Amino acid sequence: MEIVTYPNKILKQISKPVERFDNELHKLLDDMYQIMVNNQGVGLAAIQVAVPLRAVIIDIGNEEGEQGEKTKLEIINPEFLEWNGSQKDTEGCLSVPDYFDDVERYANVKVKFYDRFGNEHIKDADGLLSVAFQHETDHLDGHLFVEKLDYIKRKKFEKEWKKKLKQKR
Ligand code: CO
Repeated sequence: MEIVTYPNKILKQISKPVERFDNELHKLLDDMYQIMVNNQGVGLAAIQVAVPLRAVIIDIGNEEGEQGEKTKLEIINPEFLEWNGSQKDTEGCLSVPDYFDDVERYANVKVKFYDRFGNEHIKDADGLLSVAFQHETDHLDGHLFVEKLDYIKRKKFEKEWKKKLKQKR
């Protein structure tokens, strides 16, 4: 399992709802968590490992920044019920490695989702968790955070990214 990076077209796919909460899903979620933690991420959508399913992992860690079972969230088929206010925070993405920029998001969201066993949950989120919910759900609809940058920043990003890809070759 490898992380798909920009500008791979896979990232533009719209992911399909999860229908079976079976061992295959559990294995996917376990593998996703491992790869996310290994890459020092706080969120990962299944499409980032080329699986077009509406499954997301978020772990923003505790107050000491430690990630683990207590802070891990497995989010299947998320749906926003409410969204309010706005906040601007620096975001990054494992599919856009080493690029960080400020993005405007809703401040508070209320999300309905399912866990790996198909149990329904409703959660209110603010701060970083709210950002993570919005960033990861965007992935499920084929969107990346860099699309939210203003025109000039976006152009600058594209230019820098092309340069970086060339250097890698
Ligand atoms: Co991302």
